[in-house]
Amino acid sequence: METVAPTRSAVDALPLETLDVADPRLYQTDAWRPYFARLRREAPVHYCPASAYGPYWSVTKFKDIMTVEVNHEVYSSAAEVGGIQVEDQPKEMDRPSFIRMDPPKHTQQRRVVAPIVATDNLKNMESTIRERTARVLDGLPRGETFDWVDRVSIELTTMMLATLFDFPFEDRRKLTWWSDVAVANVRAPDAPVHSEAERFAELTAMAEYMGRLYAERAAAPPRFDLLSMLAHGQATRDMPLREFMGTLGLLIVGGNDTTRNTMSGAVLALQRHPDQWEKLRANPALLPAFVQETIRWQTPVIHMRRTARADTELGGQRIRAGDKVVMWYVSGNRDEEAIDDPEAFVIDRPRPRHHLSFGSGIHRCVGDRLAELQLHVLWEEMLKRDLSIEVVGEPVRAYSNFLRGIKALPVRIAA
Ligand code: HEM
Repeated sequence: METVAPTRSAVDALPLETLDVADPRLYQTDAWRPYFARLRREAPVHYCPASAYGPYWSVTKFKDIMTVEVNHEVYSSAAEVGGIQVEDQPKEMDRPSFIRMDPPKHTQQRRVVAPIVATDNLKNMESTIRERTARVLDGLPRGETFDWVDRVSIELTTMMLATLFDFPFEDRRKLTWWSDVAVANVRAPDAPVHSEAERFAELTAMAEYMGRLYAERAAAPPRFDLLSMLAHGQATRDMPLREFMGTLGLLIVGGNDTTRNTMSGAVLALQRHPDQWEKLRANPALLPAFVQETIRWQTPVIHMRRTARADTELGGQRIRAGDKVVMWYVSGNRDEEAIDDPEAFVIDRPRPRHHLSFGSGIHRCVGDRLAELQLHVLWEEMLKRDLSIEVVGEPVRAYSNFLRGIKALPVRIAA
């Protein structure tokens, strides 16, 4: 569903305190830009007193987001105080994972899985990623419409996940399903699950399936896959069931949705800025900067939330202990004080890594280099084949205020 975004003047006429940027419809209809433009201008740290998720603060400028990111002592990610989404997880179905923890437990568990995306292992994985990418691209139909999301973005990222978990390859779409279930907004009409209880039941089934693989890995010598690492890691091997579910959910969603949506968002960016594809074809050395710009442009994670542990001040506002503080990455990445001409897709920016899409501080994305590698290989293989993709219909966007998802994107490659 692509609708025309409300004009700036229509948004500017609304009473400031009624602006509620947590409304998932803003992302489903891609209408969020004028709301954040106004907040950045008039109330960069803004209090929304009433929303479907209760009262919350919005942090919308790049520099204020960084202030929150690097001060994890005041701005906590812990599940006990609320976790990382503007919407609280129901307490009775809470599923802890290290993204929803503060140190020291966060640090200990993150260390267990980090080696899977270390430079040496990435080098080992590159040839597999390239061979699969080539196969997927060579298998795409020519001269007929197909869904880029399903045929390319989902297929490539799901194959990657199967490798990271050493998961039965033929069952790999189960990973896609669990990822979709884990992040779904249960109120969306087309959600894969329609209640928290249904979600919990599906994720319990995931934990049972994965639990069998985990038991096999625990009984065997340590290997270099995520399940074996969790089974042998001192900080992770005795996880209670809920924490096992939460950790699997984190690793599946982290490694899947984000990269998937960047692959799809890039196609839309190029449709709107075809000159940038020509620039890349003329100078493939721009590829690393191009990849970063697609990650900034898409901003696959819309927000992360923290909860204040103490009274503090941010951007001239008084934040009280217990307040919800939401960092809107989509807005920080469009902050004209931090990024020149931020609405434009420009593949030769002087500081291409200067964006917030991976977060910052102790929770900064652990999989950033892997995501970059997958994206780099995809676009390198596209260039090699001189494939240009024509978007032939509107994208279908997800009803979510957390992940900026593209669910379908009809495209065509000239015959
Ligand atoms: C373009 C792709 C990606 C984007 C935009 C992205 C974005 C993010 C963001 C915004 C965070 C939270 C940062 C913060 O709170 O400051 C995060 C954390 C995380 N990401 Fe990613 N991610 C991507 C790819 C991946 C991949 C491929 C993996 C796994 C292989 C992954 C695994 C994780 C994990 C485990 C965390 C939690 C880190 C922690 O709490 O210490 N991500 N990611």
